[in-house]
Amino acid sequence: MHDTLLLFGATGDLAQRYLFPSLLRLLGDGLLPEDFRIRALALSAHDTASFHEILRPRLQQAMPQATLDDIDALLQRLDYRAVDLRNPETVAEAVSDLAPRRCVSYLAIPPGLYISTCQGLALGGALEAPNRLMLEKPIGSDSDSAAEILHAIATLIDEDRVFRLDHYLGKAPVQNLMALRFGNTLLEAVWNRNHIESVHILVAESEGVDGRDAYYSRSGALRDMVQSHILQLLCLVAMEPPSSMEADRIRDEKVKVLRALRPLDAEHAARDSVRGRYTAGRIDGQPAQAYQPPEGSEAETFVGVTAHIDNWRWAGVPFHLVTGKRLGERTSRVVVTLKPVTHWLFERPDRHHATPNRLTFQLQPQENIQLGLMSSLAGPEWGALELRPLELELSVPTGLYRRIAYERLLLDVLNGNHALFVRDDEVRAAWAWIDSVSDAWKAAALPLQPYPAGSWGPAQAHAFLPQGVDQDPAASGGAP
Ligand code: BG6
Repeated sequence: MHDTLLLFGATGDLAQRYLFPSLLRLLGDGLLPEDFRIRALALSAHDTASFHEILRPRLQQAMPQATLDDIDALLQRLDYRAVDLRNPETVAEAVSDLAPRRCVSYLAIPPGLYISTCQGLALGGALEAPNRLMLEKPIGSDSDSAAEILHAIATLIDEDRVFRLDHYLGKAPVQNLMALRFGNTLLEAVWNRNHIESVHILVAESEGVDGRDAYYSRSGALRDMVQSHILQLLCLVAMEPPSSMEADRIRDEKVKVLRALRPLDAEHAARDSVRGRYTAGRIDGQPAQAYQPPEGSEAETFVGVTAHIDNWRWAGVPFHLVTGKRLGERTSRVVVTLKPVTHWLFERPDRHHATPNRLTFQLQPQENIQLGLMSSLAGPEWGALELRPLELELSVPTGLYRRIAYERLLLDVLNGNHALFVRDDEVRAAWAWIDSVSDAWKAAALPLQPYPAGSWGPAQAHAFLPQGVDQDPAASGGAP
């Protein structure tokens, strides 16, 4: 197991809210090596003692159950170096004393700093085998910038020691999608165009852009969420069964799905996609402000796009991908709608009003699985020929502790397990499709549709959302 973490971006939101608390929990659970060490690196001019003073209350807040002794046990292993990541020499200087240990460098920084930081790491010896590198999403902002980063990094470290994160892959309910698909004959038997009518993948957030304006105004929802999390979910739903659970066998199948995505063109942009931006509204009864990026920013906070996978399994099955900020409810789900039965025998409802079978994987905030069936309860009030929709619900037991994504992913990198990380060819293929969407938007001059915070997106979004979601009582936000 690797025993040293070089954490770049240590003063950033991700590190403070998720990465250090994850390390604290792993340490408390005895899952880190005896002599584990962390070097925190960022631009701010702290020393180790002052960085500890900043981090201690953040850890107390993130993990109220941790004692001060637990927190000190982590801080004792952690030192801090101020470093200018644009300057490879200073990076090299800040890491070279630790490079002979078994290091993992974790870059939780903007992708524009990846190349200079990696050059510094290489100069300081921290990319030599067996050292490893972790990169946060996004890798670049389009195909060209991603290709430049991938190429520059490939000259400094072998692909089998690079771990590109998509934290959705570290979420237990997301991994469960694979378990359910490939562990059950019942599902795999119907998992194709013969039985499936459509698939919806929805990642709705009630949070806004808050505090990340600089990044978000250049990125927008398509690049921030669809390029990474939503396309990874799509891969897990649509990929062929891998021949084994070995990392590269899984990634081989995922990349085939990404390469089979039909590029969006300008002619179909208005039919197959919608983009929106939230205006003022109400969330949970509280007023919420409009998103106002700097003049000239085209950033959307809502995307609905229908993806078509051109292969034998999925020909003709639309995958409706939707994500947005400041929506009525925080919920992520995959909804698989099956085709209607071929010959309908019952009087009521008539065949046109029968509800098709629908399988819903709710991934967050609670994990559960619902199967919508048609059934006759044969009670006195219903005739035997009258069917009603019946929900079979499988709630995942709440007492079960499931590690948060970053705990799982950090452990996997320390142990060298690649299965939940994104390979370079996946990054390229995902950007190629995303570029087609943003080029089609430009060519068709697809307008940004306003929607009030707390609603389910612009009116045009209805066609992309899973049935009934925009009528959920929880989504009662709306007009300012
Ligand atoms: C991040 C995006 O990758 O994922 C954020 O940059 C988004 O914009 C976040 O809010 C959502 O993650 P989660 O785990 O809260 O669903």
